[in-house]
Amino acid sequence: MTINIDRCYCEQKTFAYLIELARREKLNVRDLAGREGCGTHCGWCIAYLRRGLRTGETAFDYLLPKEGLDSEDAAV
Ligand code: FES
Repeated sequence: MTINIDRCYCEQKTFAYLIELARREKLNVRDLAGREGCGTHCGWCIAYLRRGLRTGETAFDYLLPKEGLDSEDAAV
């Protein structure tokens, strides 16, 4: 079985869009949550956004443990 996690499913916004926006406007995950709503519902995407901001990844074929918005934000 393969998985492809590439978006905040609650907001239907791709990580490619969100990470490009964050890098362009120097936003952290909390900023993204406030502007785009991602991470403010089930919170499942937070760990992926945080990892994507660090590495540039916009799609994941592996699972990450759930993180909260109050976890340490990655430097942008
Ligand atoms: S998947 Fe992003 S808040 Fe639910």
